[in-house]
Amino acid sequence: MNIKAIDTRGFWKVNKDYKVSRVKVDGAEIIIIDDFLVNPERVRDFILDAPAPMWKHKEGGYNFKKYYDCRNSIALHHREFFEIEGAIRKEAGKAVYFAKTPNYCRDDVVITNIFQNIKGNPHDGIPIPHEDGRIQGGLLYLNHDDEVQFKTGTAFYKSKFNGIANTNKLGKLEKRAVDDFTLNSGIEEDGYDYYLHDWKKFWEPAGFIQSKFNRLLMWPGDIYHGAYHGSEDFVDYPRVNQCFFLEDDSKRRYDDY
Ligand SMILES: [Fe+2]
Repeated sequence: MNIKAIDTRGFWKVNKDYKVSRVKVDGAEIIIIDDFLVNPERVRDFILDAPAPMWKHKEGGYNFKKYYDCRNSIALHHREFFEIEGAIRKEAGKAVYFAKTPNYCRDDVVITNIFQNIKGNPHDGIPIPHEDGRIQGGLLYLNHDDEVQFKTGTAFYKSKFNGIANTNKLGKLEKRAVDDFTLNSGIEEDGYDYYLHDWKKFWEPAGFIQSKFNRLLMWPGDIYHGAYHGSEDFVDYPRVNQCFFLEDDSKRRYDDY
C-alpha cells in the first residue's frame, strides 16, 4: 500500500480579482467576498475525498440517525494559508490570524463541515442559532450553485431575550444573562439535535447571506448565526464548506471590563 500523498500547493491561492461587498447586522460588519479562490474545485474535491468523522454528538442524540453532522480538521503547513490570512486581514481591516496549534509548531488547520440529512429537512426547524465568541469567523461555501436552493446559506438572528444579535454590544453581566437564558431554555447547541424546532419562540431573523460557490463570508463570531437550509437541500448530497476561526486581538475580552 502506498501513502496517499496530496500536493496541496495552490489549493488556497486567492483570486486577485475577488469582489467585496459589505452589510451590517446589528452594527457589526459582515463581509462577503465572491470568487475568492483561484482553484475552489480542488479544495472541494480535497474535502469530499477526505474521511468525514462524526462531529458534535450527545448520548441519545440524532447525529447519524436523522443526519450526518461531520467535521474534519487537517493540519497544513501555515504557508498554505498566507494568502487567505492576508486577504482576510486586508478586508477586515484588523489583525486577525489563524490560531496556532497548541504546541506552536505553526501548522494551520483546514476545518471542513460536511453535513447531510438522512430524513430530510424538518419543516419546522432551523440549524441551531449560536455564537462562537470573540473570533473572526469565516466560511467558504463550496456547494455548486445548482445544488442548493435560493434560501440556502447563513442566517443571523436576534435573541428575543434582549433583541440583540451582536453580543459584542453587551457588558459582562448582560452577556451572562443571555447565556443563562439560552442554557436554561435548552436551546444551546449541545449536539443532541442539529435543529431547533420551536425557534420562533426564541429568535427572530436579523439577516441572511446566500450560499454561492466560492463565496467567502466573514463575520464577527459573536453575532448569533447558523446555517440555513432550503427545504429540499442536503438530502441527496452533502453541504460542504471550509470554515475559519481566526483569533481577533481587536476584540475586548470579558476580563477587560
Ligand atoms: Fe458558528
